[in-house]
Amino acid sequence: MHERSSTGELVKSLKGELDRYSVGEKLPSSRALVERFRVSPVTVARALAQLAAEGLVVTRPGAGTFRARPLMAPPPAGDTSWQEVALSADAATEVVPRAVDASGVLVTLAAPPPGVVEFNGGYLHPTLQPEQAMAAALARAGRRPGAWGRPPMDGLPELRDWFARGIGAGVTAADVLITAGGQSALTTALRALAPPGAPVLVESPTYPGMLAIARASGLRPVPVPGDPQGVRPELLAAAFAATGARVFVTQPLFQNPTGTVLTPERRAEVLRIVHAAGAFVVEDDFARRLVHDDAGPLPPPLAADDPDGVVVHVCSLTKVTSPSLRVGALVARGPVLERLRAIHVVDNFFVPRPLQEAALELVGSPAWSRHLRSISGELRSRRDAMTAALRLGLPQLALPHVPSGGYHLWLRLPDGTDESALVSAALRAGVAVAPGRPYFSAEPPAGHIRLSFAGVAGAAEIAEGVRRLQTACEEIAG
Ligand SMILES: Cc1ncc(COP(=O)(O)O)c(C=O)c1O
Repeated sequence: MHERSSTGELVKSLKGELDRYSVGEKLPSSRALVERFRVSPVTVARALAQLAAEGLVVTRPGAGTFRARPLMAPPPAGDTSWQEVALSADAATEVVPRAVDASGVLVTLAAPPPGVVEFNGGYLHPTLQPEQAMAAALARAGRRPGAWGRPPMDGLPELRDWFARGIGAGVTAADVLITAGGQSALTTALRALAPPGAPVLVESPTYPGMLAIARASGLRPVPVPGDPQGVRPELLAAAFAATGARVFVTQPLFQNPTGTVLTPERRAEVLRIVHAAGAFVVEDDFARRLVHDDAGPLPPPLAADDPDGVVVHVCSLTKVTSPSLRVGALVARGPVLERLRAIHVVDNFFVPRPLQEAALELVGSPAWSRHLRSISGELRSRRDAMTAALRLGLPQLALPHVPSGGYHLWLRLPDGTDESALVSAALRAGVAVAPGRPYFSAEPPAGHIRLSFAGVAGAAEIAEGVRRLQTACEEIAG
C-alpha cells in the first residue's frame, strides 16, 4: 500500500517538472532520483515505467530515461448518430424484423450491486461450484497431449460419448455435437430449423434467453400455455394447426421458470402431435443434473423415446458447475444433424479444446459424483428454506408448484400488483428479483416474479432476502 502511494507521489512530482526538459533531453539518473526523493529504487523504477506507459518518457536500457515527443492530440469525437438509421433501415425488407435485445438475459447474468441479495441469479453461487475440482481438471487438461491443438470439429469423441451415454436408448457419440453451453446450442438449433420470418412454438412462460435468440434470428415466437403437468397438448395441436410451425421448443424437466415436469402421459402425446405436424421438438434439458435429493426417479430425456429423429436435444454443464464451463451438447438423428453441424461450425468453428479436455477430466474424476450428490442436497434444503420463509412472511404471493429440481420458485403476484414497481422496490430494499414479464412472449395472464435460491450464500441470506422482499411488498401496497 505504502509502496503504491509513494509511486503515485513520485509520478506526480516528476510530471510537475517534466517541462523543464526539452524533448529528447535526458532525465536525472535513477540513483539521483532515489537520493533526491528519498524513495526506494523499486519506487523509482515503477514511477518511470508508469511515465513511459503514459508516453511521457522513453527509457533506453543502459542509456537512461529521456523526455518523449508529446503525443498527438486525441482525434475529435466522431458523430455515430448515422448508425441509428443504418441499424434500423434493413427492417423494412424483413418479414419479421429482427429484434436484438439482451435485457431478458442480462437480468440473470449481470451481477447485482454490492450488498444486494441475489435472488435473480441464473447460476450456482461460487460456494456451490466445484471450484477445486474444476481447477484440478483444468490443470490436468492443460497437460494432456495436444490440449492446445485443434479439436475435431464435432468435439472430442470421448466427450461426445459421455453426453450420448447420458441419454442412452441407442444414442451414440456420432449423434452428438459439442457446443459452448446451452445458449449456443439453442441458437444453432433455432437457426438450423426455422428460416427468418417463421413461427416457432414456445412454452408460456419460458426462458427469456431462448425468446431473445428467436427474435434475434427473425423468428416469431408463438406461446403455448402449460399447467402443472407441463405444456397443454390440445393447445399445442391447435398452435401447430393455426401457424404451420415446424419447431416447438420445450423444457420437459424442471421447466424454467415454473419448475414443472412433463407428465408421462403428456410426453407421448406431445411427441405424437409434433410428429404429426412434421415438425421438430427442441428439447432443452438444461436442469437434469439439478435434481433435488427428495425427487422420485427422473423421466428420461424425450430424445430417449424418439427413434424417428423428431427431437433435437440440448444440454449443458454450466448450470451444475459454473457459467464459465461453457460446454454443452446438441444431440440429433437423421439429416438434420448435418444442418446443425454446418451452422455450428460456420458460427463458432469449435469449442476451445482445453475447455473440452477440462470437462472430460471433471466428469471422469471421483469428485464429480460427490459434487452431484452435494448439489442435490443443497438445492433441496435451500428450496425448503425459501419456501418456508415465503409461506410465513409473504403468503399473498401464490406458489402454485414447489419444484423437485432446478434453482427457482415461480410466484404469482396478487391481482392488481404492479410487477415492475415491485421489482424496483425490492432492489431499493436490497434484494434483486427477476420480473415475470420477459418470460412471456405475449401479454402475460398475471404479474409474476422468479426467485432463485441457488445464487445466494445460504439459508441466512435466503431469510434476509425474503425479509427485504416483504419490505418491498409493504412499500408498494401502502
Ligand atoms: C432454460 C435454459 N436453457 C438454456 C440456458 C443457457 O445456459 P448455458 O448457455 O449457460 O448452458 C439457460 C440459462 O439460463 C436456461 O435457463
